[in-house]
Amino acid sequence: MSLFNEICFVLVSSFVAEQLGIKDYVLAYLDPHLQPSELLTGVSFASGASGFDPQTTQIHAYDQLNLFKEYIGKVKGMVGEERTNYILSNSFYLVLAGSDDFANTYFTVDIRKLQYDINSYTDLVVNYASNFVKELYQLGAKRIGLFGAAPIGCLPSQRTLAGGELRVCSEIYNQAAQLMNSKLSSAITSYNNSLNDPQARIVYTDTYNPLLNIILNHDKYGFSIADKWCCGTGNLEVSILCNQLTDTCSDDSVYVFWDSYHPTERGYRVLVNQILQSSLNKFF
Ligand SMILES: *[C@@H]1O[C@H](CO)[C@@H](O)[C@H](O)[C@H]1NC(C)=O
Repeated sequence: MSLFNEICFVLVSSFVAEQLGIKDYVLAYLDPHLQPSELLTGVSFASGASGFDPQTTQIHAYDQLNLFKEYIGKVKGMVGEERTNYILSNSFYLVLAGSDDFANTYFTVDIRKLQYDINSYTDLVVNYASNFVKELYQLGAKRIGLFGAAPIGCLPSQRTLAGGELRVCSEIYNQAAQLMNSKLSSAITSYNNSLNDPQARIVYTDTYNPLLNIILNHDKYGFSIADKWCCGTGNLEVSILCNQLTDTCSDDSVYVFWDSYHPTERGYRVLVNQILQSSLNKFF
């Protein structure tokens, strides 16, 4: 499971759940081996490389909402209406938004660049994301953490594609992510405040700065490599191209990134730790 690149919609997410002492690992809702009891403590509706822009993915964010509705029906069947409402309003929802819309769609699928400039494309994604959060709230969610886009210009894949010979961070990509995040943050904050619901904790949570900080100051966190990755050639492998057959580095704990797009397990741990330290109090 990836924490921030895909839009990842989970009730409680693995490392977060583990650190909160809830459960060690949050299974996928679509996992065929999922035990019914898992439904009551949290599941993941996340899907690889999905996004808000319908162009981004096969399993769109709104398909994840439909799975969530099905989930609610199942839980009601198990524990009844009242308990279900209690679970829904006390769960912790993490929604990770936007990085893939930019990295996989806007900057790579030409049609979007013809239709939208960066400014109007950020409006499109923010609009989808806000509507998604509204639907989630209407279905009974109260504590929703919406994570913004990562510093996509510094993801190793984007350095290779857009960072020139020296593979520097792409400023244009990073600026697009920052613009989207600032719009997302104000849209979410004003939505939360407009609800006037004392239980509502709908919180924009920054991942851009914590991850950028880890990449730029990787030594400080015990990483030695932040611009290349552990798996394969270090040039462009991502997800399924990184598999049992690919060579991997001998010690992935010194790498921030596992593949060209996703942090290593240790990379995620350090990141989640930082995010929790700065944001957890906003949810309780
Ligand atoms: C969200 O709204 C609630 C209720 O009005 C308020 O107590 C809380 O501070 C708000 N949180 C944020 C992050 O805006």
